[in-house]
Amino acid sequence: MHSALPTLNSALQTVAYIVAGILFILSLRGLSSQETARRGNRYGIIGMAAAVVATTLCADKVAYAPLLGALVVGAAIGAFMAARVAMTAMPELVALLHSFVGAAAVIVGYASYLDPAGHAGSRTVLLIEIFVDVFIGALTFTGSVIAFGKLRGSISGKPILLPARHMLNLALVVGSVVFGVMYVQAPEATGLVPLLVMTGLSGILGVHLVVAIGGADMPVVVSMLNSYSGWTASAAGFMLSNDLLIVVGALVGSSGAILSYIMCRAMNRSIWNVIFGGFGAAPPAGAPKPAAPVGDVKEVTLDETAEALKNAKEVVFVPGYGMAVARAQHAVQQISEILRKQGTNVRFAIHPVAGRLPGHMNVLLAEAAVPYDIVLEMDEINADFPRTDVVMVVGANDIVNPGAQTDASSPIYGMPVLEVWKAKQVVILKRSRGAGYAGVDNPLFYESNSAMLLGDAKKTMDSLLGKLRGE
Ligand code: TAP
Repeated sequence: MHSALPTLNSALQTVAYIVAGILFILSLRGLSSQETARRGNRYGIIGMAAAVVATTLCADKVAYAPLLGALVVGAAIGAFMAARVAMTAMPELVALLHSFVGAAAVIVGYASYLDPAGHAGSRTVLLIEIFVDVFIGALTFTGSVIAFGKLRGSISGKPILLPARHMLNLALVVGSVVFGVMYVQAPEATGLVPLLVMTGLSGILGVHLVVAIGGADMPVVVSMLNSYSGWTASAAGFMLSNDLLIVVGALVGSSGAILSYIMCRAMNRSIWNVIFGGFGAAPPAGAPKPAAPVGDVKEVTLDETAEALKNAKEVVFVPGYGMAVARAQHAVQQISEILRKQGTNVRFAIHPVAGRLPGHMNVLLAEAAVPYDIVLEMDEINADFPRTDVVMVVGANDIVNPGAQTDASSPIYGMPVLEVWKAKQVVILKRSRGAGYAGVDNPLFYESNSAMLLGDAKKTMDSLLGKLRGE
């Protein structure tokens, strides 16, 4: 009976791990569309709970008291942070959480090095696994902390481009490998010093890679760091001989890499350029000087906007970061319903990097119960702007900047944008004439068919709603 217990334990653990692995795959699949996202989230939660319980109960030696204490404190902090975080601060939180994955990987790596007793198999293989784990972990940690600072605004969004930065990156990688070889060859635990140096070099590499990236490319960086955090977890899985960690890490790593690739394509960026930094920076060599925008910025009144909307047959709403800040989505939805009831064809145009995280606008519109079939992606709607009567740009800026097509000196040059200026009339809701996230002026504001409806988007939309209801 006694001797059968470990076998039973390991069989139960294997079953639990397979179930958890399947739940994680279903979770990722569910998260790929808004209709199934909630279900996907639930699968993920159940999978993670199964993984934690199986790992804890089936382990040989467990100090339950400190483990439970850590779980309760960690879960309480996580729940508190997630409940309090504003939707607009979500990317910062995600970046911070990636940094925790990196830090955890480094700590587990050091623990495995200093106490390799529980690890079966070749010592050299274990040392290499620790090297990979610590290298990616340290890079993910420092890179994510810098990304957190940039997204929060505590660190400037402007790229910091050191001279010969690619050589510096290369030197840091080569240096890490050299110290890695020294650490692998060192007898017993004497490789600690080269391991520490390698960790430092990798940490510097993480900082340097992310500081070199301009504000407008931060979305890709966050998803790249997500991918790195997956690979670091996978490396930790090899180190700890934990199959589930290997699988989950690979799922996170590859889905993050695929998302980064999709976002790069949407922004017309080369993924290698984003990884190695220097984007959103200085104009490309030989680029012409930017033409100063000509003309005046016109303003439009609430009454004029309400009138234009009442007379329009085709209306497109373009939500952006400002809609999220103002939490104007419910008012926008109510206005769209009134217009639809009067027979207007109303649609929503979503840019792939609108807001501050992938799918940001889709989530807000879903929360406000905007029907999915009138929410269109950029590629689906761009050709329809010339026959659109009124475009309502609600707190968006960079994603409707025509300079991305015409101004080779602009940091967002080449990024596909929503071509709203082709519509008959464009109303831009924002609080000032200020720039968007990329910090560049927007020639759209000076177009003859566009006008600004200045003010907080929520207040403006509420007042507009009142006008349309005839209050
Ligand atoms: P932005 O270019 O940031 O423009 C948002 C505009 O909203 C601002 O110009 C601001 O103008 C206005 N605004 C802010 N608060 C407002 C309020 N309460 N009421 C009304 N307007 C308000 O946003 P976007 O057009 O959505 O473009 C997204 C940008 O963020 C891109 O550059 C993208 O690369 C970057 N980014 C995206 C992501 C992802 S994954 N989506 C992640 C990180 C960065 P005022 O201050 O004048 O009101």
